[in-house]
Amino acid sequence: MTSPQESPSLLLDDVLIGRLRADLAAAGWSASAIEGMLSPMARAALDRDQFVPAAMELESNAAPAAVLTRLFVLGEAVERSEADSALPQLTVAGAVALGLIRESAATEAAPIRATVSLRPHDEWWVASDLTQVQTGRAPREDYVLGIASASANLESLTLRDSVDSALDLGCGCGILSLGLTRHADRVVATDISERACAFTRFNALLNEAPIDVRQGSFFEPVAGERFDLITTNPPFVITPRAARSTGVLEYRDGGMDRDQLIPWIIRESIGHLAPGGTLQMLANWEVKGEESDWAARPSEWIKRAVEPAVETGQSVNAWLVQRDLLDISQYAEWWIRDGLGAQVTPAEWRAEYRRWIEDFTFAGTRFVGLGSLAIRVGSNTASSGATSTLNLCCEYLPEGKAADAFAVQTALDNLAVPEDWESQPFLCAPDVREVRYFVPGSGNPELIRITQGRAGGRERSVTSAVAALIGVSDGEIAPAQVIPAIAQLLEQDEESVRAEIAGALPELLRSGVLVLV
Ligand SMILES: C[S@@+](CC[C@H](N)C(=O)[O-])C[C@H]1O[C@@H](n2cnc3c(N)ncnc32)[C@H](O)[C@@H]1O
Repeated sequence: MTSPQESPSLLLDDVLIGRLRADLAAAGWSASAIEGMLSPMARAALDRDQFVPAAMELESNAAPAAVLTRLFVLGEAVERSEADSALPQLTVAGAVALGLIRESAATEAAPIRATVSLRPHDEWWVASDLTQVQTGRAPREDYVLGIASASANLESLTLRDSVDSALDLGCGCGILSLGLTRHADRVVATDISERACAFTRFNALLNEAPIDVRQGSFFEPVAGERFDLITTNPPFVITPRAARSTGVLEYRDGGMDRDQLIPWIIRESIGHLAPGGTLQMLANWEVKGEESDWAARPSEWIKRAVEPAVETGQSVNAWLVQRDLLDISQYAEWWIRDGLGAQVTPAEWRAEYRRWIEDFTFAGTRFVGLGSLAIRVGSNTASSGATSTLNLCCEYLPEGKAADAFAVQTALDNLAVPEDWESQPFLCAPDVREVRYFVPGSGNPELIRITQGRAGGRERSVTSAVAALIGVSDGEIAPAQVIPAIAQLLEQDEESVRAEIAGALPELLRSGVLVLV
């Protein structure tokens, strides 16, 4: 752990932050500008958190965008005169005052270094703590995460319909909150960490994004309030108690036993959703049995959490997706490496590894599932006479592109197959393609794959009968009209054709291959 004195303390000064904004804009400092200055090799290395090639390519580039990249993205030392030219309005003195540059070095003629990471992301500039790669040190307990792959994943999953209110629970540097300001009239961000709240406030000011930042534990700062959308990338890492003896890493450990934070957040979130509201979150869950049992525990959490809503007449749609399933050693290695940093000794590594494996083994955990869930609590159905229900689907989607907001929306809207599906016309979505594999010389396909461009770019194998239905789904013909013809064509009996279509239909609807018209 590093000492608290090394913590940057950000100054939330409108005038200075306005100057910084003007300088970054004048430098044209965007993600695409950075990409444009680097070779494909340096860009790919940067994606792997390897900064050396980019630093080598930019070291003699004095353009403001290059200097800003060296200073704030790569964590390199730059000449004070270069930094002054790249920040003409703010100046190095202003950056020191804001807490972006280390003061002691900046007062000398010596090169200066940033104390925070600042980088363009989408339309934003986002400040956070320097990463382990930049500092070479293990993260401190109140480390504020930057744009990690998990944050980017949830960002792309987030539904972007216009809403009145949105809550970002555990906001960190505020990356999700910034995105929410694009489509929510009111964005509230909470975090227990004072430093995380400071970073979110700083980023809100820098990007002129209205975010109501409230410090406190999870829902405490929003007691009694309801939101149309709740997003959270919570501190979900399942951490052995023994591993907490050196302190709790706030950015990844919510402090509850094992994976119990997740069911607690789901339950509490449901109570903070406005009618028709949606919860979207990332989660980890322990798998105690076989790999195929992965959904048992998280699906039970969801059922229990939404029970009160369903009992009071609301319909709930929930889509749980597992993206990865790690055995306990893979999970332990990943998070020990993250927590201990590069300077760990072999003895420390071995001791920590033992703690994690012993803890998981004691708990009967064999695997850990990694994924996301989206839960939409519908408006009250009691007065409309419709039956309230829970439509829950659990899918393991390890392949293909990660799902996106379109995939989430499509799934939530189509979790239930209409009872009268045979008389409903379906439309085959325009991004759907069919690939047939033949044994050479054979007239019948051995395998038929249906692929999609959108909705996560998913692929699945289908039977000839299902492919035939998809092929004729032009938005006017209902299955009942074509099942007899398909059966005749394939020399199958109608009942088996119907059964094959009924079996495939839930996934085809949920993923948007077939659209109800
Ligand atoms: C995995 S980080 C996510 C940060 C950010 N939302 C993102 O996606 O990059 C989890 C965040 O939860 C915060 N956190 C930890 N315990 C908390 C608690 N009891 N209440 C609120 N936030 C908490 C941490 O400080 C951290 O900022």
